[in-house]
Formats: sequence, structure tokens, C-alpha cells
Amino acid sequence: MTDLFSYNKITAEIAEEIRKKIGANNVSTDEEKLESYSHDEVPQSNYGRKYIAELLVFPESTQHVSEIMKIAHDERIPVTPRGAGTGLSSGALPVFGGIVMSFEKMNRIIELDEDNLTITVEPGVVTAEISRMASRHDLLYAGDPCSGDASFIGGNIAENAGGNKVIKYGATGAQLLALEAVLADGSVTWFGGKRRKDVTGLDFVHLMAGSEGILAVITKAVLKLLPLPRHSVDLLAAFPDARSAINFVPRIVTEGGLIPASVEFMDDKALKLVEKYLNASVPAGDAGAALIIQLEGNDEERLEEQFEAIGKLSQRHGAYEVYVADTRSTKERIWQARKGVPEALSAFYSRYTKEDLVVPTASVPKLLEMLRGETEPYGLEYITYGHAGDGNMHCTIVCPECDNWHDRLHAAQQRIYAKLIKMGGTLSGEHGIGYKRRGYMKFFLDDAQIELIKRVKLAFDPQNILNPGKLVDWGK
Ligand code: MLT
Ligand code: ZN
Repeated sequence: MTDLFSYNKITAEIAEEIRKKIGANNVSTDEEKLESYSHDEVPQSNYGRKYIAELLVFPESTQHVSEIMKIAHDERIPVTPRGAGTGLSSGALPVFGGIVMSFEKMNRIIELDEDNLTITVEPGVVTAEISRMASRHDLLYAGDPCSGDASFIGGNIAENAGGNKVIKYGATGAQLLALEAVLADGSVTWFGGKRRKDVTGLDFVHLMAGSEGILAVITKAVLKLLPLPRHSVDLLAAFPDARSAINFVPRIVTEGGLIPASVEFMDDKALKLVEKYLNASVPAGDAGAALIIQLEGNDEERLEEQFEAIGKLSQRHGAYEVYVADTRSTKERIWQARKGVPEALSAFYSRYTKEDLVVPTASVPKLLEMLRGETEPYGLEYITYGHAGDGNMHCTIVCPECDNWHDRLHAAQQRIYAKLIKMGGTLSGEHGIGYKRRGYMKFFLDDAQIELIKRVKLAFDPQNILNPGKLVDWGK
């Protein structure tokens, strides 16, 4: 068997052939550009070396993608599809060089179908643009990743991005009805359709969601839309500590009797950090922990009753102050605090690792306790924020003054992951595995499952040219 990871370099002839097929203006070998398109939000310095693509392509159509894939397939060149570079798993790192395929020129909203409640888009459409287009028609696109103002929908699908509304609407995969995809050999196919149900064959649509670009290249997506809720209110409840905030989360459903659109969490350190970053006070900035609870509905009076009831309920469960945001500017203020946390982390820490742990929701208090127990002995600190309603916490491990940071971190991570498994938790809820976490997959999936992932990958892509080396540890 030929080595799955032995690739050819891109010669001047191959580059020229690609230029002829897709136009010279859609191909670049500019060094600065190659560098800036060869990573996502995870710094390359994490790996002690740089991985740089040999050629950058900007297809304008499915036809272009197909032509590029045919050449890559014939010449055995690795291809790394790339969204907007907002990823958090080094999923778009061109580990074996070759081609980076960027979708910024495939950024058309093709159709909004009000009769079937769907929107058909190309992969380079910015996520928030889909929401804006839907809302102009009084419709909702429910995918809402925190990076939605910048991220591309193609990347959201490849990572099965989650975000702030998963508790009510599910992650990106739950919004998907159909995908057009270019396979590794350049052939073009459609998975699914505008149909609301479909058991004709295997469910390739949802296999593609979260497949991190290793199976096929997404060139169009048909997404579900819903009627736009007419009103929404955000509550920000300040709690004395993380435990009381987290313990309140299941009560919203069990005692409050409703499913909120979002339940987001910030611990005291996250609140302080974001205040420092914004250089302004944020609501509940001095709290031990805060929850943002978003409620939505069509009947304004009913919604008012609901948020008053949830506010009071939160106070019975320990909240000492509740801010109500029902205007654009008050809502922005609350969400600026939450969405500012990741930015604040990268502004103030040069060495940190952002975990994406997820546990069954009732185990979140145990998760936070466990983190304290497993980081303190290594002299590490952690800052926690995230999607409390989904049990998905971005515990970010930091150590500003540490020597041998990598050793300490690795030792703590081994212990954290072992305990996480015992709680029924897993490694990543929404950021993905990519290159960053692939080494830890063996803790979470058994050999049979890892082998199955490799076989599925090679069934789609026998030459192993699509985003090679990702998702599981291939020993390369
Ligand atoms: C978030 O929840 O803020 C996102 O997953 C992004 C991030 O943590 O950087
Ligand atoms: Zn998140």
C-alpha cells in the first residue's frame, strides 16, 4: 500500500494548469498571503513550527472547486478547505502543504424560499449575513456562533459550530437540510434536498456536519428557517458564586417551565477580564458569576410575565441582582460583555489554552469543582465562560508566570480528561478536534471507533488528499 501521507509538491506546471482552469486572479503564491491563510485563531507557535501552504486558491464556483479537486486528485496534492479563519482547533492548518482553498469569493445567498422556509447559500457567506437576510423577511436563521459576525457558514458546517442558541435550536447541523459537495476526485453531488424528511439512503448531510473538511468540499448549503420571534428579552442575573449560578440553570426549565433561547455563563475572572478589556464597567462586573438568559416570543405581555417570573425565580435561587435588557442598546451591552471574553483572553494572555469541554448539563457544577482540583496542584489558573444551558464550558487554562507551561498543562489536561470521561463528558462540544486536539482522541473514542473514522475518511477520499492529518491521530 502506498504511503497515505506521501504527496507531490506543486510544480510551476501544476500551478499554471490551475490558473488556466480558474483564472490567474483566483490563485496566489504571495508569501504574506500564504502565511496569513495558513492558520486559524490558534497560533502556529503552539506547534513549535509553521505549516505553510504552497498555493492559495479562491474558487468562484462549484465548477472551479471541481476543477481544482480533479487536478489535486490526479497529482496527489493535499487540499485544505478554509472558512474565515475563525476556527479554534487548527482545522485549517495545511499540515502537509499543498493547496489552501479559501471561499471568500463564493459568498452569494442564492435563494430565500419563503414557501419552503429555506435559504440556499454558498460556503463563503458570513453567518450573520444569513441571519440579517432572513430577518428582513421576518424569518430566523437559528445558527448563532459567537464568531458569527466574521465566520463563514461553510466553516460552521464543517465544525458543526454551536454558539448561543443551541439549547433551543440545536447546533449548525440541526439547521441543515441539504448540501452540494465536491468529492475528492472532483465529482459533484447533492446530499439531501429541501425535504423535511428523507430516509432514502444514508444521512450524509449530517455526516458532513462536523466532518472538518476531511470528507468532501461543501459548495452550497440549504438551511432551515423559522418564523422570527417578534420580541426578545435578555436577563443578566448576578450570583455570588459560580455554584449558585450553575445550579440555577436547570431550574429555568423545570421550575420556570420554558426553554430559553440562550443561557450563557461567565465566572468572576471572565467578568473582571472583560471589564479590563473594554475599559468600562459591565453589568454584574463585580459578581461571583453571571448568567445571561435570553427569552423570546410573539406575545409581548406574555414575554413580560415570563421574564419577571424567571427573574424572581433566579432571586429565589441566589441571584442578588437581575438586569433586564429589552432595548437594542441594553442588549448590546450585555452581549458585548459575553462576546468580549474570548477577545479579552487573547489580548491579555500570550499563553493560554481554551478548552471546549462538554458534560451532561446536570454535571456542570461537578465539572467546575473538578477543574479547580486538577489545575491548582500544577500552579495553573482557569477562567470559565460558555454555554451553560448546553453543559459546554470554555474553561481556559492560563498561567501568566509559569515556567515549563507545556509540561504543566499537559499533565493537568491528562487528569482533567480522565475525570471528564467519568462524568460522561467529552473533549469538544463545538470548536472541533482539527490538528489541535487530535492527540487526545484516543482518550475519548475506543480503537474500533477511531479505525471506523479512518475508514469512512478513506471511503470518501481514498488518496487522502482532503485536509489530511486531522480529526484523529494518523501518526503523521
Ligand atoms: C464562544 O463561546 O465565545 C466561542 O466558542 C468562541 C470562543 O470561545 O473563542
Ligand atoms: Zn462557544
